[in-house]
Amino acid sequence: MFWSMESVFVLILLLSAAVSSFVAADDEAFIGVNIGTDLSDMPHPTQVVALLKAQQIWHVRLYDADRGMLVALANTGIQVMVSVPNEQLLGIGQSNSTAANWVSHNIVAHYPATNITAICVGSEVFTAVPNAASVLVNAMKFIQSALVASNLDRQIKVSTPLSSSIILDSFPPSQAFFNKTWNPVLIPMVNFLQSTGSHLMLNIYPYYDYMQSNGVIPLDYALLKPLAPNKEAVDANTLVHYSNVFDAMIDAAYFAMDFLNFTNVPVMVTESGWPSKGDSNEPDATLDNANTYNSNLIRHVLNKTGTPKHPGIAVSTYIYELYNEDLKPGPVSEKNWGLFNANGEPVYILHLTGSGLVLANDTTNQTYCTAKQGADPKMLQAALDWACGPGKVDCSAMLQGEPCYQPDNVIAHATYAFNSYYNQMGKAPGTCDFNGVAAITTTNPSHGTCVFPGSTGRMNGTTVNITAPSMNSTSSAPSVRDLYNLGSTSFLVLLRVLICSIVFL
Ligand SMILES: *[C@@H]1O[C@H](CO)[C@@H](O)[C@H](O)[C@H]1NC(C)=O
Ligand SMILES: *[C@@H]1O[C@H](CO)[C@@H](O)[C@H](O)[C@H]1NC(C)=O
Ligand SMILES: *[C@@H]1O[C@H](CO)[C@@H](O)[C@H](O)[C@H]1NC(C)=O
Ligand SMILES: *[C@@H]1O[C@H](CO)[C@@H](O)[C@H](O)[C@H]1NC(C)=O
Ligand SMILES: *[C@@H]1O[C@H](CO)[C@@H](O)[C@H](O)[C@H]1NC(C)=O
Ligand SMILES: *[C@@H]1O[C@H](CO)[C@@H](O)[C@H](O)[C@H]1NC(C)=O
Ligand SMILES: *[C@@H]1O[C@H](CO)[C@@H](O)[C@H](O)[C@H]1NC(C)=O
Ligand SMILES: *[C@@H]1O[C@H](CO)[C@@H](O)[C@H](O)[C@H]1NC(C)=O
Ligand SMILES: *[C@@H]1O[C@H](CO)[C@@H](O)[C@H](O)[C@H]1NC(C)=O
Ligand SMILES: *[C@@H]1O[C@H](CO)[C@@H](O)[C@H](O)[C@H]1NC(C)=O
Repeated sequence: MFWSMESVFVLILLLSAAVSSFVAADDEAFIGVNIGTDLSDMPHPTQVVALLKAQQIWHVRLYDADRGMLVALANTGIQVMVSVPNEQLLGIGQSNSTAANWVSHNIVAHYPATNITAICVGSEVFTAVPNAASVLVNAMKFIQSALVASNLDRQIKVSTPLSSSIILDSFPPSQAFFNKTWNPVLIPMVNFLQSTGSHLMLNIYPYYDYMQSNGVIPLDYALLKPLAPNKEAVDANTLVHYSNVFDAMIDAAYFAMDFLNFTNVPVMVTESGWPSKGDSNEPDATLDNANTYNSNLIRHVLNKTGTPKHPGIAVSTYIYELYNEDLKPGPVSEKNWGLFNANGEPVYILHLTGSGLVLANDTTNQTYCTAKQGADPKMLQAALDWACGPGKVDCSAMLQGEPCYQPDNVIAHATYAFNSYYNQMGKAPGTCDFNGVAAITTTNPSHGTCVFPGSTGRMNGTTVNITAPSMNSTSSAPSVRDLYNLGSTSFLVLLRVLICSIVFL
């Protein structure tokens, strides 16, 4: 099929228009992390923030609006969702001035130094504190009007995380509906979300769905493992195939909202995860399963495939949770949802090579990207320029007087830039190529004080100096393919837009 350039543009415009009518479309999908604090040795806020930065976690949700945390998170670039704890819900839902005080004390006092992006009003209110459900919408509206009064309502969104258990008959998703008991609250609530441009916040726990299904839900389907097509679950009404519980539950929420005639409120997943340890009657709470679930979840969310009902629509997701909470009551699994122990050590190393800029700590695949020996210097230079320009690599370490200036030659500088780009792209397949002048290696190219990104903690004894190669080379002139890739960035961008747009179809 042939498209003229004009029709490609028209198509792109049409697609962007179609997509932007859906509130979430302008957001990139991101991964955040919940920070529960029921730990006997809860780290100090500055330690928490240091861990977040080291792990490149740029989105967090707090279960309250702790002053110490909000201060520590100031000027970090980390985006923060704060919460009205359930205990404070009745007070705030019954008094406009209590709500206004809460906002002034916990939001206005910290914004904009602390980048607060949302307020979660209560947590699983319908199931956890049903007696407070009658004041939920008032609480949300009071907080909203205080934000409006402070002119912060565009930057800070108000919503309330729901337990997925209020969605009944969730499979097939096309038949799902909200427990009608709560319609008198849910209808004005979703209406509020729609009119304020907020997300429906949903907590999704395939672990519990799997545990409670008595074998009906296969483990692989809960763990977001690749399934053979004949193992996928088919929605008999829509004929849509579901390959995991996570997507099916999000679509169930979309259909449940459809039944209440709300068709343009996007879903955000405020909690999801898998426990790494359990009682003897929780045999699937294992390190392996927790690692598999969270690694697959992160890849799935960042891949921006959306769900079958809304392909390509970002479903940003907050992992439950940052730390194991040893003080949580209940079964062993309750205390073991964390990615880290209180001392900041990972409970397990996520298999995240290829996932992009989050929890970039897969030390199991210690690979680097280097310029190929003998590559054409012109091509290396072009690729280097691309990496430090459109590729958005921070090349300042290679400036004169900086640690990676020496050796001052194109192969060493290209190696630094290629490796930074590779690392920045989460070591994803295909990100260490640069038209064939780059190659993956297991040798850490760091040298002297020039520490390459991705090589933290691996310097002892393995430091290798780059031998200064000659600038000339024997390789051939750039081919047409290389020029197309490096020379015409705008065409590439256009192509990417087109490819991304087609996904929305
Ligand atoms: C990986 O995790 C360890 C322990 O939390 C941390 O010290 C290290 O800086 C992390 N490395 C990267 C590249 O994030
Ligand atoms: C918060 O983060 C978002 C996304 O990076 C950014 O657009 C916004 O300007 C930030 N706001 C503040 C107050 O820093
Ligand atoms: C609540 O207070 C705000 C000011 O913070 C005001 O604009 C709004 O009208 C009040 N709403 C009600 C229902 O009293
Ligand atoms: C719907 O919610 C009500 C109130 O919480 C509860 O009593 C009822 O069991 C729920 N219905 C179903 C089918 O779960
Ligand atoms: C949704 O809209 C349809 C058609 O307008 C109407 O019949 C139905 O009662 C509405 N449902 C709700 C829950 O408002
Ligand atoms: C990411 O999405 C593409 C389609 O857009 C798909 O082909 C690929 O398998 C997905 N990768 C993962 C890890 O889900
Ligand atoms: C490590 O990651 C690179 C890039 O994704 C890949 O080419 C290589 O096969 C991986 N190695 C192992 C041992 O998984
Ligand atoms: C690497 O270079 C540093 C100076 O940059 C030097 O001190 C060190 O001895 C060199 N190591 C090797 C193995 O050549
Ligand atoms: C590096 O070596 C020093 C001294 O030999 C040691 O104290 C340090 O723990 C080592 N670091 C790592 C990450 O192995
Ligand atoms: C590369 O440069 C060296 C001197 O730096 C020279 O001896 C050699 O002949 C050159 N090789 C080619 C292929 O031009």
